Amino acid sequence: MSQQNPTTRFGRILHGGDYNPEQWPRGVWAEDMRLMDMAHVNATTIGVFSWVSLEPEEGVFQFDWLDDVMDMLHRHGKLAVLATPSAAMPAWFAEKYPEARRTGPDRVRKLHNNRVNHCWTSPVFRAATKAMAHRLAERYKDHPALAMWHVSNEYGGECYCDLCESAFREWLKVKFDDDLDKLNAAYWTKFWSHTYTDWSQIHAPGLPYGETAIHGLDLDWKRFTSDQTVSFFLNESEPIRKLTPDVPVTTNMMGTYPGIDYWKLAPHVDIISWDSYPGFTDGPLSVADWIGVAFSHDLNRTLKKQPFMLIECTPSSSNWYNVMQLKRPGMHRMEGLQAIAHGSDAVMYFQWRQSRGSQEKFHGGVVQHDGSSQARVFREVADLGETLANLGSIVGATVTADVALVYDWENAWAVEGACGPKLGGMGYKGAILDHYRPFWECGVPVDIIDSDQAFKPYRLVVAPMLYMLKPGVADRIAQFVESGGVFVATYWTGVADENDLALLGGWPGDLRHVFGVRSEEIDPLFEGHTVRLRAKEGNSLGLSGAFHAHGLCQLLTTDGAETLAEYTSEFYAHTPCLTRNLFGEGEAFFVASRNEQSLTNQFLKLLLKRIGIKPVLKAELPDGVTAQQRTNGQEDFIFVINCNAEPQTVIVGERENLTEFDGARVGETLVLEPYAVKLLVRSLGLNPSTKSVTVQ
Ligand code: GLA
Ligand code: ZN
Repeated sequence: MSQQNPTTRFGRILHGGDYNPEQWPRGVWAEDMRLMDMAHVNATTIGVFSWVSLEPEEGVFQFDWLDDVMDMLHRHGKLAVLATPSAAMPAWFAEKYPEARRTGPDRVRKLHNNRVNHCWTSPVFRAATKAMAHRLAERYKDHPALAMWHVSNEYGGECYCDLCESAFREWLKVKFDDDLDKLNAAYWTKFWSHTYTDWSQIHAPGLPYGETAIHGLDLDWKRFTSDQTVSFFLNESEPIRKLTPDVPVTTNMMGTYPGIDYWKLAPHVDIISWDSYPGFTDGPLSVADWIGVAFSHDLNRTLKKQPFMLIECTPSSSNWYNVMQLKRPGMHRMEGLQAIAHGSDAVMYFQWRQSRGSQEKFHGGVVQHDGSSQARVFREVADLGETLANLGSIVGATVTADVALVYDWENAWAVEGACGPKLGGMGYKGAILDHYRPFWECGVPVDIIDSDQAFKPYRLVVAPMLYMLKPGVADRIAQFVESGGVFVATYWTGVADENDLALLGGWPGDLRHVFGVRSEEIDPLFEGHTVRLRAKEGNSLGLSGAFHAHGLCQLLTTDGAETLAEYTSEFYAHTPCLTRNLFGEGEAFFVASRNEQSLTNQFLKLLLKRIGIKPVLKAELPDGVTAQQRTNGQEDFIFVINCNAEPQTVIVGERENLTEFDGARVGETLVLEPYAVKLLVRSLGLNPSTKSVTVQ
């Protein structure tokens, strides 16, 4: 696939979802087509868990039903996103080939259960899944409905079987050049006499019986599992690549799911797609939850720097939360348009028709058990579908960002895995979201990169808790700042290397001269405890006020940096907690404490102003309202999104070249109903596209 933005080949925003007709008598299929038309569904994902329907017993294949589904979809003008079924091995397979079944960390091989229940290494399973992919590709390569491949489903989890352990040892041999001394040095194994004298002594780490003391080993096991998953994907998708080189390939990802470093998987797919199920973990869905979703959208867009697909979501309730609250009226519409605003070219569901039985029968589908097109959820989906059908001009439009936020999988593994300074949650993701929020609030686009990506395209890079400095990263940060970039680092940065060996000589390691600070202690605070701090009079950033820090307070001494704020309580009162250093042409800021949100907001908004990075819309955005923009070079599409359950009014500070999507004049204020989204278009002076609907 060579195309820059593969979603443009569809020429429309995809609207649809997982369709499992094999669970239903054929009589239901015609009704499905009728309802899909009503809901403006133009694409369905089929075959995701269909292995047993395709191969009911070993070597006996039945594709006729799938032929009929493909033909039917085509007749009804719907694209098929055809899946390979490896996520659900049949019971007969599990029984006949035990080696394919996953083994838990307790070294007990599972019975046939659930799904994604397989070993990553088993040659038998790899051969079978590859052969099935080959059959599907061979059979449907020329089918006009085939639009895209959906390889497997939500790859995840670890396998601890002997096959996986020996593959792990081979992986380690490659990493350490076949040299056990190198491994022992990297893992600091003289501690507690853990020195390995033969590769065979190394096992996958983890409770209940395995090694838990060697952090480098832990990290490598996570890296290995991630790599092994990618290798499984490559094996499975090989026949598809060969037989249908022009059909784009995806596999559905899961936001910041910790088990796979998605930066390693991303280069191998053509279109990034992900499943979004914001959770009712601490209560009803809130603005903060939608900010979390926005962050994941930005991450998914940045993975290939091109439009992605929201390939799964639910229009009503998710089926694994303790309280499966319904999405409020308008909320799902907002969810769908939010995805588009951040760069998705699709809004798709799991699943089209709710199953009658088994695990997910109460997971919100488009067609519920009542089967009616009059149901509230169905009508909301149909209404969104109608809107999306009018947004074709947005397909392929990009998001350009001057700001990058660093979220790094390997760093996440290391930060959360190290024994200290707080067990059971260092709050890495929380720190990332704290720093994402101010940009979202002012409507400044952000790319989400890992520390291996280029910093150069950005003017401001914010890297919270970059505990692990992988080889070359400190140098790249130094070069970025030296040549005029602005870099923000925080507490718990530059503490360990890629093997989780502590950096010697003080934090933040090789970045001390860039930030002009030095540090050797960090004070973890108990829940509910806070430390006071205050902006320094006359500081060069214009920071003002008194604040609280919580969670983590790092102790700093400056070595050339200016102190912007200092602690005012604790034994470290009157020492710096927020600093600025001029380095080369650029500036390096160090935030030493986990601060209350209002300070993070003030600080980053002042930085934006100072650098001259402008929001996508000149406007006063109330709390919980954001503006996000995509552009196609001729027009900017600006989505003003109200994530609140109450109406909000936006005061618009620019109106030149701006219209509402239906061409209406933009007033001085925009009134947004609960969860409403307004789409504005800024003409950049070239052939504006036709606008025919209002989005709200
Ligand atoms: C995931 C899976 C789907 C379904 C949904 C809803 O995203 O990919 O198969 O299980 O969750 O629970
Ligand atoms: Zn295994």
